[in-house]
Amino acid sequence: MNPLRPLLYRVAKRWIAGSSRVDAIKAAKEANAKGMAALLNYLGEGLREARSIDEALSEYEGLQRAIAELGLRAHISVKPTQLGLLLSEQALLLRLERLAEAARQRGQLLWIDMEQGQYVDGTLRAYSSLLEKGFTNVGLALQANLRRTEKDLGGLLDKRPRIRLVKGAYPTPPPEGFSSRAEVARNYERLMELLFEARAFVAIATHDARLVLRGIELAQRNGAEFELQFLRGIREDLKAWAVRQGYIVAEYIPYGQSWYEYSMRRLRENRKNIWLLIRSLFGG
Ligand code: FDA
Repeated sequence: MNPLRPLLYRVAKRWIAGSSRVDAIKAAKEANAKGMAALLNYLGEGLREARSIDEALSEYEGLQRAIAELGLRAHISVKPTQLGLLLSEQALLLRLERLAEAARQRGQLLWIDMEQGQYVDGTLRAYSSLLEKGFTNVGLALQANLRRTEKDLGGLLDKRPRIRLVKGAYPTPPPEGFSSRAEVARNYERLMELLFEARAFVAIATHDARLVLRGIELAQRNGAEFELQFLRGIREDLKAWAVRQGYIVAEYIPYGQSWYEYSMRRLRENRKNIWLLIRSLFGG
């Protein structure tokens, strides 16, 4: 085990709700009380054993039931490699369909996260199948740091997708990715233009205030539907502002025991977090 793990956990706590479903429900209630919907993610990825994949599936099913019973404004957000993509695309699709159907019956959404570049094709095919089967309640994350995303988007736009646009949490060097943060931001803007011109439903999922404002401007200009999505533990000021403005806002809330990979991505994406880590060394 990484000896730094306990220290990392002290920092990671701000980004995750806790280890159990009870913690997730509590965090969802808090988000609702602040005027935000909750997007609940049961942490886990890269699963290869049918047993652990089905354990994740039944956790999500339990969560969908709890959300409905408690009347929460909440939805689930899942990772393809948590639900069978490493077994086969068919294995993933079967499980996604089950969750999409259960969500549809309860008036909930199913969000699908996007993972590393090698999983994009399989994830896109699964999402397209769900759209073709009439699941209008399913949304997909697309990553602005990948050059291919503009083309991928082109293949989805006439299917009336729901897209969560993110910068991308998985470092991808050229030629597949862009070489600078500025290029990623420019591509994010370009993808928003395409999405809003096509009047697709867009979840603007970034804490980059300039892009949030630009997205709102584009949506309003095109009369398109949108919402703002943020991660738990980041830019509370921006979230509060967005709620005050009356926008539809959702907070992505991960929970579960497998907090390490997710937290490492959060830690890496902002240099200031190194200071949090150093402070935690001294008990701060
Ligand atoms: P950027 O990194 O430029 O940050 C803008 C500002 O936000 C920073 O200046 C800082 O103030 C603050 N900030 C951002 N990240 C921070 C951090 N870790 N710690 C402290 N402050 C931070 N990615 C992916 O590949 N697949 C997916 O499915 C998803 N899903 C997803 C859902 C939702 C709701 C969100 C908001 C994001 C994702 N992401 C994602 C993650 C996304 O790709 C990206 O890694 C993070 O959002 C950070 O990038 P920003 O767009 O916020 O910009």
